[in-house]
Amino acid sequence: MGASDDPRTFLQRVHGEVTTRDRMQIFRHKPVTIWLTGLSGAGKSTIAFELEQRLVSLGHACYVLDGDNIRHGLACDLGFDKKDRRENIRRVAHVAQLMNDAGLIVITALISPMREDRAMAREIVGPGNFIETYLSASVDACAGRDPKGLYAKARAGEIASFTGVSAPYEAPADPELRIDTATQTPAESVAKLFTYLHDNCLADPR
Ligand code: ADX
Repeated sequence: MGASDDPRTFLQRVHGEVTTRDRMQIFRHKPVTIWLTGLSGAGKSTIAFELEQRLVSLGHACYVLDGDNIRHGLACDLGFDKKDRRENIRRVAHVAQLMNDAGLIVITALISPMREDRAMAREIVGPGNFIETYLSASVDACAGRDPKGLYAKARAGEIASFTGVSAPYEAPADPELRIDTATQTPAESVAKLFTYLHDNCLADPR
């Protein structure tokens, strides 16, 4: 695309007077994005919403961007091939960045199976605000739970490109946090995440 075709050619960024520091003083936390990644059934949504509840109950502004929900609206035009998953992740990363800019702690719950796409999300959000958290549970462990019955359908050939069955999942090589959700309960996983935030991001932990 040449410069003259780029719709951004004549756009300029504008900024208000409110600084990140102003917002941090109001919210009493560093606005970060906790980027949960793992297979379907690894516990991303459960852990995301339990952590959100704990943070909000302590007065912290926090919001979950969950893949299944996002795909009903912001990403309703996207499927599950590589290109669409990348676009899904790109959009969610931009929303997370905006929400961080507004002062909120964001928790994303997307499979986000490809390393390259998670690296893109890290760049969009800002590397200093990005807490990649790998919920590691094997395909067999997730398929054993199969809370939505999707592994059975995928193994029967009824769902194409299903992560872990007929589409790849690339485990993070060096995530900020790794939680084995096959052996840890959701409460234990949330406690580990909360401790990380308490130590690194919450100005007024209780
Ligand atoms: S991602 O790969 O683009 O990050 P995302 O987290 O948004 O995926 O969506 C995953 C959810 O979509 C799963 O939890 C599952 O409920 C549903 N789903 C439907 N089809 C597929 C598929 N082919 N692969 C994985 N998940 C699927």
